[in-house]
Amino acid sequence: MNKFKTEVAEGLSQSPKSLPSKYFYDELGDALFVKIMHSSEYYLTRSELEIFTKKSNQIIDSLQVEKDNYFELIELGAGDGLKTKELLKCLQNRGFNFDYFPIDISQNALDKLEISLKEDLPTLGIQKRQGDYFETLASLKKSQYPKVIMFLGSNIGNMTDAVAAQFIYELGANLNTGDKLLLGVDLIKDASIVLPAYNDRQGITRAFNLNLLSRINKELGGEFDIEQFSHQPEYDEKEGIAKSFLVSLKKQKVFVQALDKAFEFQEGEKIATEISRKYNDEIIERLIEQTDFKMVEKLTDEKAFFANYIFTKS
Ligand SMILES: C[S@@+](CC[C@H](N)C(=O)[O-])C[C@H]1O[C@@H](n2cnc3c(N)ncnc32)[C@H](O)[C@@H]1O
Repeated sequence: MNKFKTEVAEGLSQSPKSLPSKYFYDELGDALFVKIMHSSEYYLTRSELEIFTKKSNQIIDSLQVEKDNYFELIELGAGDGLKTKELLKCLQNRGFNFDYFPIDISQNALDKLEISLKEDLPTLGIQKRQGDYFETLASLKKSQYPKVIMFLGSNIGNMTDAVAAQFIYELGANLNTGDKLLLGVDLIKDASIVLPAYNDRQGITRAFNLNLLSRINKELGGEFDIEQFSHQPEYDEKEGIAKSFLVSLKKQKVFVQALDKAFEFQEGEKIATEISRKYNDEIIERLIEQTDFKMVEKLTDEKAFFANYIFTKS
């Protein structure tokens, strides 16, 4: 059974129901996410792009990579590489010796990224890899070159704190002393700023969330009537976690052919589709507590909406 099928079956059979957010990203999901990134409400991309535009030199200095020593720049969940390109340009201009290794679950996102990088940075060495980044951690050990791992866009916030801590631990266990981690995270702030980022006026996040059901319809012969589900974002500033749900608008049964199974929904029943954790220094410290990572630097945008932390593996 393919993984999508298994995980949909598991997620819709449990109570409360859930679907993994990594399945947002098919061709349509990738395009919708790029639109979200450019929406006026989605401050995350703008804030991190500001850091990369204004402070790439500072990032490079804090990464302490040596000019003549080849290193691997590996990005987990690279997406369209918008912010990364700022850093790549700066590294090339300063004459660093490296290749770029984008990893993404979406082959479509990787192919598009490669095409745009070849246009913008024709001499860049690119080695793309399709896969779930959880499953690619062990392969990092294969090469002994110095490494810089980038995990941007607050992607880590899609994991629960326990999973994120385990992920960072495993990442560290597959790196060598002196390797670096550049982690981009969204900072805890008022609901009036956070919530609209997951509920833009144009309805792009709504379409992005509902696309999960369309994907089940397309790939697994699902019979979801998209009109009978609504998009519901929630955010509790104290907890610091934005959550997205799909809510059944009526009592209904939905058959999924590939699973040969019908799933029952009560009116108002929720499917949890994504969490987006927001951070502060204390939460970050807790994440790396059990690992060999030490914090080297923290850079923020002017409004302090977003932070890029740099860690070194001791
Ligand atoms: C929210 S987007 C962010 C993209 C980019 N990091 C940025 O900051 O703009 C998440 C990206 O990670 C990819 N992704 C999500 N879950 C993944 C997983 N488990 N393994 C590999 N890639 C994943 C998606 O395909 C998408 O390109």
